[in-house]
Amino acid sequence: MAFFIVGMMGSGKTTIGKKISKILNMKFIDMDSYIEALESKSIRDIFNEKGEIYFRTLETKTLNLLKDKEIIVSCGGGVILKKENREILKKYKTVFLDTDLQLIKNRMNSKEEIEKRPLLKKESIENIFEKRKNYYNKFKTFKYDIKTEDNYIISRIIRYFLDENQIISEDNSIQNYKIILNYKVEELEDTFIMSEKVNQIYGKKISKKIILENGEKSKSIENFQKIMNYLVEKSKNRSHTLVGFGGGTITDITGYSASVYKRGMKLKLIPTTLLSQVDAAIGGKNGIDYKGYKNIIGTFKYPEITIIDPLFILTLDESDYIQGLVEAFKINLLSGEGFEIFEKEYENILNRNINSVLKIINNSIKQKINIVKKDFEDKGIRNILNYGHTLGHAFESITGKPHGLSVAWGIRKENEILKKKGIMDDHTFYYIDRILIKIVGEELLNINIESKNLKDFIINDKKINRNKINLISIIKPGSYELLNIDLKDFLEMI
Ligand SMILES: NC(=O)c1ccc[n+]([C@@H]2O[C@H](COP(=O)([O-])OP(=O)(O)OC[C@H]3O[C@@H](n4cnc5c(N)ncnc54)[C@H](O)[C@@H]3O)[C@@H](O)[C@H]2O)c1
Repeated sequence: MAFFIVGMMGSGKTTIGKKISKILNMKFIDMDSYIEALESKSIRDIFNEKGEIYFRTLETKTLNLLKDKEIIVSCGGGVILKKENREILKKYKTVFLDTDLQLIKNRMNSKEEIEKRPLLKKESIENIFEKRKNYYNKFKTFKYDIKTEDNYIISRIIRYFLDENQIISEDNSIQNYKIILNYKVEELEDTFIMSEKVNQIYGKKISKKIILENGEKSKSIENFQKIMNYLVEKSKNRSHTLVGFGGGTITDITGYSASVYKRGMKLKLIPTTLLSQVDAAIGGKNGIDYKGYKNIIGTFKYPEITIIDPLFILTLDESDYIQGLVEAFKINLLSGEGFEIFEKEYENILNRNINSVLKIINNSIKQKINIVKKDFEDKGIRNILNYGHTLGHAFESITGKPHGLSVAWGIRKENEILKKKGIMDDHTFYYIDRILIKIVGEELLNINIESKNLKDFIINDKKINRNKINLISIIKPGSYELLNIDLKDFLEMI
């Protein structure tokens, strides 16, 4: 069944439609171009030679030809003027892209654009819109103005196009989780914890909520107190559910709060970043930061349920998305399963194609759970997840770059050291490097940090064991060696 987008000329239907088609793996058709190909003539010539009525009939014919195909169609601006066309469109999922007229005018003021569109020569955009707006407004409307990011509008349209609550997979072997496409967040009697940004995009219909700052700042003791105050003041008991709705910072502080309030209340996690979906919300670890130390206070607690909806990924900033990819790649590389996708489907991954994202999520969760099963309390093997962190952490502190990108840098640098020492073979090094370059770009990986600065950081880092450094040497995907190197020797290697 086709999905249709209607709206004024220049409203962005084609740009938005093409992006949606890449995400949903569906073909995209621009109706005007389709008609031009059918008639072997430009729209302008069809209008000039045969008139508007004839053109509208061609639109009806085209709608009938396309309506039952699996495609996204960007319709011509005037398609809704004809009753028969409106009736067809009404029977299918059709959205109206209600773009600000000024934005349209800015886009359409070139001579070329006016030349392509015969109606614009005769009438102003305002007049054309006035005549059509009542027809447009009959369809599900999406406001699109200068402040609306493409990603937001795309994610909302996709949620409208797709059926709600499609269960993709579920598991309850050690952690109850469900991967649900187009999850409808429902309020019920729960208390939601979310970040400002998640509230702004997804929180409008949720009233019982505690909103925290975006990012790591949210994992503070003050915010923990804020959550406790709320629960005490509202006399919540242990059967009440605390819902962590957000990235890893939110799932971490929510998990911790739920685990200690009255010695444990109910917990539900709805992770909304790729990193939290593949890692932070999986495995039952939680925590908050204190006195500058990350995760220094925390517990282990599995949530009653974790819901993972890959569509949340669509609104993430590029940097947050990439950080999630680094994390997923790391888990897949260590486990030896699913890492090929980062090479084979890279174009799709960049476009956040939902099938590729789903494969990454599914695989990473399975692998992470396998690791957690062996070492729930993080006393041994779970440590391998710190691959790239020794130097990544130093890089993060020196450059202020985001954590996930710093880990990618750390992986490259640690691998380089191991290759130089003859511990890692060239083939494995270049294989990993090729993928890392695709994910985070060569520029970041090539940032040069003077070895003196790295050494100083490592010597002064209180988190690092004074005598020994743990490093992971990948032999091949799925097979690695955990090296325990004297700090003195490690400093010489840098
Ligand atoms: N518990 C664990 O096992 C574990 C494992 C790995 C990492 N972590 C923790 O995870 C945290 C990092 O998590 P993160 O990378 O998700 O960062 P984050 O929680 O700070 O989220 C990143 C940003 O994305 C925003 N955001 C969240 N969802 C969004 C969405 N769907 N659309 C648009 N914006 C959205 C947030 O508001 C924030 O600004 C760290 O504190 C780390 O310690 C925990």
